Amino acid sequence: MAFELIDLPYEDTALEPAVSAKTLSYHHGKHHKAYIDKTNKAVDGGDLDGKPLEDVIASARNSDQGLFNNAAQSWNHGFYWHSMAGKETNASGELKSMIEDAFGSLDSLKEKLAERGAGHFASGWVWLAVKDGKLSIEETHDGDTLADQDGTVPLLVIDLWEHAYYLDHQNARPEYLDAVKGKLNWSFASENLARGTTWTYPN
Ligand SMILES: [Fe+2]
Repeated sequence: MAFELIDLPYEDTALEPAVSAKTLSYHHGKHHKAYIDKTNKAVDGGDLDGKPLEDVIASARNSDQGLFNNAAQSWNHGFYWHSMAGKETNASGELKSMIEDAFGSLDSLKEKLAERGAGHFASGWVWLAVKDGKLSIEETHDGDTLADQDGTVPLLVIDLWEHAYYLDHQNARPEYLDAVKGKLNWSFASENLARGTTWTYPN
């Protein structure tokens, strides 16, 4: 069974002006699709054919860098689409309380996510995750992911690759981060927290 390019969970204009419909159309329809297509091509007919995407990622992590990059990027983009919302959603009481304990306030967390994202060298991802029972801001480089890391449950992610923002903000990654920090899906983060296990790529 081949992996599918999941639909965006909103209209392609939903994230404007932070992320334009043109960016979303390339980012989802070209970049994400290419990662999915390459993953499918690599697993077709092999031992990993028919396995969940998370298993493909874990299996390829230390054995097949090309497959790992494409499988992890397929997962990361699915998670990223859900991490965004046309209108910022609300955190559950449980998440809100953990954010206040760890960061003081939701606004302070959003500032820190934007700061870490702006400071991240080159391509990658900035995450809010539960790590060893505590909220933590994490960064991964290039296609790396938190999808298969024991003891870590990713709650939200922001794409830091230039393809995520260049058409709208050119090289001004801080401007993109400042804009998307008002488009975060705290309801999705709350679901991930409540489940306590890592989100699975729908197929
Ligand atoms: Fe991306």
